Amino acid sequence: MKTQVAIIGAGPAGLLLGHLLKAEGIDCVVVERQQPDYILGRIRAGVLEQITVGLMARLGLDGRLKAEGLVEEGFNLADGERLIRIDVANLTGKTVVVYGQTEITKDLMDAAPERGLPVIYGAEDVALFDIESDAPYVTYAVNGEAQRIDARFVIGCDGFHGPSRKAIPASVAREYERVYPFGWLGILADVPPCNPELIYANHERGFALASMRSHTRSRYYVDVALTEKVEDWSDERIWDELAVRLGPEAAAGMTRGPSIEKSIAPLRSYVFEPMRHGSLMLCGDSAHIVPPTGAKGLNLAASDVHYAAEALVAYFKRSDNDAVIGYSAKALARVWKSERFSWVLTKLMHRFPEDGPFERAMQVAELDYISSSVAAQTSIAENYVGLPV
Ligand code: APR
Ligand code: PHB
Repeated sequence: MKTQVAIIGAGPAGLLLGHLLKAEGIDCVVVERQQPDYILGRIRAGVLEQITVGLMARLGLDGRLKAEGLVEEGFNLADGERLIRIDVANLTGKTVVVYGQTEITKDLMDAAPERGLPVIYGAEDVALFDIESDAPYVTYAVNGEAQRIDARFVIGCDGFHGPSRKAIPASVAREYERVYPFGWLGILADVPPCNPELIYANHERGFALASMRSHTRSRYYVDVALTEKVEDWSDERIWDELAVRLGPEAAAGMTRGPSIEKSIAPLRSYVFEPMRHGSLMLCGDSAHIVPPTGAKGLNLAASDVHYAAEALVAYFKRSDNDAVIGYSAKALARVWKSERFSWVLTKLMHRFPEDGPFERAMQVAELDYISSSVAAQTSIAENYVGLPV
């Protein structure tokens, strides 16, 4: 098979890019290892920045997002008895939308056939070849039958564990990593949220987050040691822990109910440079990971995809190679700022096992500063709502 752009991975990054290219009349094929049901079973964060909402709107695929998404004008930082509201709408003139990232993937997936975007599911042993040339190709097998796609560009949207990043030679690569000494234990339940806005809480027993998917579905997290097993956390134990960590006001508004999903996710900050090598570009989790504090994962993937689509349109429609050459630097400039914000918010809101009284005093001082400074709140708000692309 021959195409202009071969996209590896049908997560939100790959599907969004596929749709953007198709909308511009650029030929592309998406190759995915898993089946749709598996992909839609992955529960991911749920806060969308303007960039993500805007791209869905540009594609005309925001019908459900507009109908079901909850527009959020602010969020809260809690520390013990204290609750600091960050008035995002007033401070920035912008809002975020709470809408499950899995729903974005579903909307993109469902629209693929009608938009003529080919997505090959169940592709095994995907491998990349000749990425340093102008004629790279991808091989894979479906039902044991070998296949090959020849393209002008290959775009790696295959997440943290995919083969794309590994195709870039170690001699030109640089990796930056920080692994955190805890994970987030998440619970999803069909109960109304305890608060109309998200609450990120730093309690002496640890971190907690009250989030939601809709007016009737809540998503909560507590941080736990990496040695903890999800089997040891009954629903009741999680609700009890949330009630303590989120504080009395949130606890009073909390409705308990049976979990419909429960899992522990480790926290990691990771950046791979460069994000382009020859005819291969990386987008999303294949190039970087952020800890979930601030929910930047999908939004960063969306800004990568925006830059990559722009570059590919310039290349194919105007024979202009400059944006392809500049893709890595442009994408990384925004990636690093999101990495910084996710790391700062993680450090501010979690009790690290290695921290002593000094580090705790720094957290308290920073929260004091934030609560009394419009400048500090504006800085948090503009990062939360999403920096410009
Ligand atoms: N061959 C083909 N596809 C692969 C391979 C492979 N060898 N390895 C991984 N993939 C697929 C995965 O099955 C997955 O569907 O690539 C896709 C990557 O999707 P995500 O992991 O969701 O990564 P990305 O699209 O970059 O998502 C960015 O969105 O939902 C959020 O939190 C999520 O931060 C993440 C962000
Ligand atoms: C979520 O709703 O799952 C969520 C929200 C905000 C975050 C992380 C996760 O920072």
